Amino acid sequence: MITLFDPKTDIDLGTPARDSQVQVTLNIDGRSISVPEGTSVMRAAALLGTTIPKLCATDSLEAFGSCRMCLVEIDGMRGYPASCTTPVSEGMSVHTQTPKLATLRRNVMELYISDHPLDCLTCSANGNCELQTVAGQVGLREVRYGYEGDNHLADVKDTSNPYFDYDPSKCIVCNRCVRACEETQGTFALTITGRGFESRVAAAGGDNFLDSECVSCGACVQACPTATLMEKSVVELGQPERSVITTCAYCGVGCSFRAEMKGDKLVRMVPDKNGQANHGHSCVKGRFAWGYATHPDRITKPMIRKHISDPWQEVSWDEAVTYAASEFRRLQQKYGRDSIGGITSSRCTNEETYLVQKLVRAAFGNNNVDTCARVCHSPTGYGLKQTLGESAGTQSFDSVMQADVILVMGANPSDAHPVFASQLKRRLREGARLIVIDPRRIDLVDSVHARAEVHLALRPGTNVAMLNALAHVIVTEGLLNQAFIDARCEGSDFTNWREFVSRAENSPEVLGAVCGVNAADIRAAARLYATGGNAAIYYGLGVTEHSQGSTAVMGIANLAMATGNIGREGVGVNPLRGQNNVQGSCDMGSFPHELPGYRHISNEVVRTQFEQAWNVTLQSEPGLRIPNMFESALAGSFKGLYCQGEDIAQSDPNTQHVTAALSAMECVVVQDIFLNETAKFAHVFLPGSSFLEKDGTFTNAERRISRVRKVMEPLGDKADWEGTVALANALGYPMSYQHPSQIMDEIASLTPTFTNVSYAALDSHGSLQWPCNAEAPDGTPTMHIEEFVRGKGRFMLTGYVPTEEKVNARYPLLLTTGRILSQYNVGAQTRRTDNVAWHDEDRLEIHPTDAESRGINEGDWVGIGSRAGQTVLRARITERVAPGVVYTTFHFPESGANVITTDNSDWATNCPEYKVTAVEVSRVYHPSEWQKRFQEFSDEQHRLLKERRHPEKAEVRK
Ligand code: SF4
Ligand code: SF4
Ligand code: SF4
Ligand code: FES
Repeated sequence: MITLFDPKTDIDLGTPARDSQVQVTLNIDGRSISVPEGTSVMRAAALLGTTIPKLCATDSLEAFGSCRMCLVEIDGMRGYPASCTTPVSEGMSVHTQTPKLATLRRNVMELYISDHPLDCLTCSANGNCELQTVAGQVGLREVRYGYEGDNHLADVKDTSNPYFDYDPSKCIVCNRCVRACEETQGTFALTITGRGFESRVAAAGGDNFLDSECVSCGACVQACPTATLMEKSVVELGQPERSVITTCAYCGVGCSFRAEMKGDKLVRMVPDKNGQANHGHSCVKGRFAWGYATHPDRITKPMIRKHISDPWQEVSWDEAVTYAASEFRRLQQKYGRDSIGGITSSRCTNEETYLVQKLVRAAFGNNNVDTCARVCHSPTGYGLKQTLGESAGTQSFDSVMQADVILVMGANPSDAHPVFASQLKRRLREGARLIVIDPRRIDLVDSVHARAEVHLALRPGTNVAMLNALAHVIVTEGLLNQAFIDARCEGSDFTNWREFVSRAENSPEVLGAVCGVNAADIRAAARLYATGGNAAIYYGLGVTEHSQGSTAVMGIANLAMATGNIGREGVGVNPLRGQNNVQGSCDMGSFPHELPGYRHISNEVVRTQFEQAWNVTLQSEPGLRIPNMFESALAGSFKGLYCQGEDIAQSDPNTQHVTAALSAMECVVVQDIFLNETAKFAHVFLPGSSFLEKDGTFTNAERRISRVRKVMEPLGDKADWEGTVALANALGYPMSYQHPSQIMDEIASLTPTFTNVSYAALDSHGSLQWPCNAEAPDGTPTMHIEEFVRGKGRFMLTGYVPTEEKVNARYPLLLTTGRILSQYNVGAQTRRTDNVAWHDEDRLEIHPTDAESRGINEGDWVGIGSRAGQTVLRARITERVAPGVVYTTFHFPESGANVITTDNSDWATNCPEYKVTAVEVSRVYHPSEWQKRFQEFSDEQHRLLKERRHPEKAEVRK
């Protein structure tokens, strides 16, 4: 889908749409139009194709009425009302073009231009400047006031933000940026200081944009009608020439973007206002942090080596896949068919993950395939399947706009799902009430114009106790929705659950002490959730990454069923998925026990269907999960791994265990865009492709399948799916896809929830939410409406079992981990962008009391020791964490956050218990022993990469 300008969708109608059943008919310049009540005269005129000049109005923001450019005449009305702030009324007769209006508009424009630099020809907005356009529309020919009086032409530029400049000399004080920051982003970082001539835009909380409260979402830049706020990339490269609609490759919100290009160069990413997940908004990562895609660290040639101590040797794709295939076959002959496996990537497309699991099952001949969801949302898959019957969230993001009560548990949307956080905050500003259950005082607890009514700052590891206490209140205080339960849920399971949660041992008074939370607050939260109207739960890895992650997910589903908060808009159970395609990688059969569409591998009917389609015999037993692969590698029975787009050496817990397992393998094949931590243990490196270099689809956290479209050729010659095809063919298992659309057609033919999905359907709908089949040809925004996918909803017993990871005198603090806005996951992408301006190292957050008792000051190096290992980080002293809790991010490999995390895991899914590690913290002066070893190994691997041999010069050492 290559577009230059689509008038249907790109035209700015001036003011937002109004949603009303009542239609109002009016007359504009002699033509009649009917629009919903509340629509502005400006928008009605634009819908007729009549342009009224405007500067301060844009259809993504509420009208402000400050520029006086959009004046009109209306029969029977005195003066010249602003069309942007005047609502239509029945029978109204409007004139948009009269001699008087022309004079008035020209006069206003003269005033603007008398205080504006006349450097249009060299201005970065030249050709795309609304001021320039409006000057043309009003026929401005002279400026009678001259340019000599007081003006702002010498105001100094603020270039502090790495991605955009602020040039106050070009500002017309239209307030669009301020309103974008308030209404669209919800950060309220901008203000207009001074009055009249002195009025200027200022970023609050700092001397410049970088130091201010601005989170660099870019909404203000997009809203600015002049070159005052302008992307540095446009300043450098000029205005783009064409655009391609694609999907962000960072988080599970799945924002749609127009990749704006000049030749084969990406100039900027502009959030697509027709994007159904983001409605024209974005965060700093999607909009600005795409420079990694062409970073010099990209490895674009396949490489092989016999041992990880050997230098790399560049080879052709053919040689690389032939070598990998011969090694895999050698290992299978020597150690058995099950001695190898694969890991799919939640950053790659659906089509790519589907192919990797197909390669493992059909070409390797086993089910040893797993994905990073193992370490994040596998408990969601298990817990929701058990209770509701489907392993996915129940709502669209837009559903939050119908919620009256929003419960956020173990998630930090402002940092990890920023565009959804903006939508959520908008709903809070409209009056929805908020409950936050989180050990940290996350941004939502107390943000501008939105704060939590109840914050339950529970002790890490006590989620299930908290959910049981909430359920106890709902049951014992008569807050159940009995009619819903009777109609929709299994009766005997409900009775058992009601008896269980009613017990005194599950009361807030007992469990509050376990959680470290006041019983009265738990009771208040339960009452609010059960009685406050539509109540929606949003949860994240703070729920799943625990030894009882699956239990907690079931506890959440129990609460929703008990209160009837499921099966319609505004309610539901919504896992906030971390990576862009983690939902998709699970849907595509990446788990060892499930074929695409979450069908168990032991199901003979389903397996036969795949066997016929793939022309192979499939194993009927589940294969190895990632942790089992590591254990088997250390035990000597697992010897080869194909790892596409994942960095298990950094992202998985207990790093030393992982790296020992990788070192024990004889053939590790890594397909990635950089030499990541895992690739340092690899024997074959296949160059990966970024999301800009391929076609495909991603599925976001609301089950929304969106197109990813190629905007440039793969730097390494092959898109990831083409690499997998080549490897399959080299293994003797033929794959002959010419385009990812054919892979999607195969997925659709084998997966009942995808039957109606095709590239053509996606192009015509924009995106589709699965299930999308004969029963739901346009997709399914809300699930479980009439009945649950499993028929009747099933209440599950959720006994609280404390984690084995306990604090004691040696390890008295609890470490919990999370993300930060500017960085993403293992940081391989964002660390290679200017986002490091906000976060260039992982730090340990510690409460002032704990810091003081250990003699730790802000910025000191501190050693963090757990039962698994030790690392050293700098301290940040903050009350965001409670006493007894410390917190860090894991975006930098040298931080070694996962050296400390243990290999405890969820009882049902093996999802690691990242969120609870008992540690001690003390002031130190040197890196940890692990960090020294890491640095040496890493330096050596970089040397081996740098000294890689080129095809004509070397061969693999035999
Ligand atoms: S910076 Fe741009 S959007 Fe903001 S007031 Fe100035 S001209 Fe308007
Ligand atoms: S970039 Fe976003 S947060 Fe920063 S001032 Fe602009 S709108 Fe506000
Ligand atoms: S919110 Fe997520 S999907 Fe949207 S731009 Fe940011 S990182 Fe990308
Ligand atoms: S566009 Fe209406 S007053 Fe500015």
